[in-house]
Amino acid sequence: MFKKIAVIGAGIMGHGIAEIVALNGYVVFLCDVSEEILQEATKKIVWSLRKMAEKGKLSEEDLTSTLNRIKTTTSLAEAVKDSELIIEAVPESLELKRELFSKIDRMARPEAILGTNTSSLPISEIAAVTSRPDKVLGIHFFNPPVIMPLVEIVCGDKTSRQTLDSILNFVKTLGKQVVVCKKDVPGFIVNRILEALIQEAAWMVHRGEASILEVDSAVKYRAKLPMGLFELSDYVGIDILYSAGKAIQDRDKGVIVSPLFEEYYKNGWYGRKSGKGFYAYSGGLWERPKIPPELADNVDLKEIFASAVNAAAWLLRNDVVEKEDLDKAVILGLNFPEGILRMADRWGIDVIVQVLRTKQLKYGEYYNPDPLLENMVANNKLGVKTHRGFYEYTQ
Ligand code: CAA
Repeated sequence: MFKKIAVIGAGIMGHGIAEIVALNGYVVFLCDVSEEILQEATKKIVWSLRKMAEKGKLSEEDLTSTLNRIKTTTSLAEAVKDSELIIEAVPESLELKRELFSKIDRMARPEAILGTNTSSLPISEIAAVTSRPDKVLGIHFFNPPVIMPLVEIVCGDKTSRQTLDSILNFVKTLGKQVVVCKKDVPGFIVNRILEALIQEAAWMVHRGEASILEVDSAVKYRAKLPMGLFELSDYVGIDILYSAGKAIQDRDKGVIVSPLFEEYYKNGWYGRKSGKGFYAYSGGLWERPKIPPELADNVDLKEIFASAVNAAAWLLRNDVVEKEDLDKAVILGLNFPEGILRMADRWGIDVIVQVLRTKQLKYGEYYNPDPLLENMVANNKLGVKTHRGFYEYTQ
């Protein structure tokens, strides 16, 4: 197993990845371009470990030893040299990641595995700039990495079985569960669904069909997701979701980024980290916006979720993931109370297709129902009401 691990990029994801890795006994070199960024990252790690200690989940001794295992540095060479695994978590730019991987490849040991935490960019194109594409893969954590139970693993065209097996074993040692995305498709599993969901909510607000508070109230109190979609966008970072959405849009139009996101992104209203996003923040490390429960009935959940069901159907039809793993991915990666395919079965596949057709007539071909959904309707696989949908149901 690995003894030394490097995490490159100490932002929202990078610091959390370094923390969970160190918590599980590994020595981690956390690297970024300035001391200020590293100090900020350390402050967040200390806050998070203290929270766990306060709740009795971590002893003072373990807190100290975890912190001692995290070494910060602005020298990429120092971080990478002697590391057996290098996890990159820099901003979502293919150019930036390719440049970095080319450098890391020259500095790292020949046997080192290089992982990227990208949520949407092509693994094979990142691997192609290295001399070891067989040792490159996607290791996608979810925010906050220390709490969220899932890691999504994505192989590139040339990732070897040996590399995949080492990383599957490694992820297990972090106490996380894994879903393997079988194809290097834009957005992989979780982000393809999440982006379809969040962008649809933002399109609805842009079109005047619902307000931010109405969407968040319905999603939180009726669909029972842990956060409203705009609350989650602020939490993850509007800049991050914007770039990931654009990356999917540019590659295969699996999502179309809404003008609302474009506006917030261009204005630098990134969410919690910039003090303003869809909600306002005062700078605390754990702040939740107030979402009034009484607005929960003002919007139909199927209007918000239909595009995400369509994205899920696309993933199944293209053999990117099995249905059980797809539902596991949203339950463990996004803390959904149930799988999105189960939700669709409950709502009725014919009802989802009808919602998509209505949107298609008004807003165009992005809303074309996936052929998988059309076939299900043609074959009376309508979900719970006909006892057959994505799953089988007994009387
Ligand atoms: N470390 C330690 N403790 C933390 C923490 C951290 N990083 N973050 C939050 N906490 C603590 C809070 O301080 C709070 O403690 P207190 O009770 O003492 O105040 C507690 O955890 C959270 O309690 P809450 O009741 O306020 O919150 P919750 O029950 O809603 O759980 C959550 C928090 C797990 C984050 C939950 O809201 C959730 O699952 N949200 C959705 C997260 C999600 O979908 N993540 C994936 C996003 S997509 C992504 O990351 C991929 C990508 O590439 C874009």
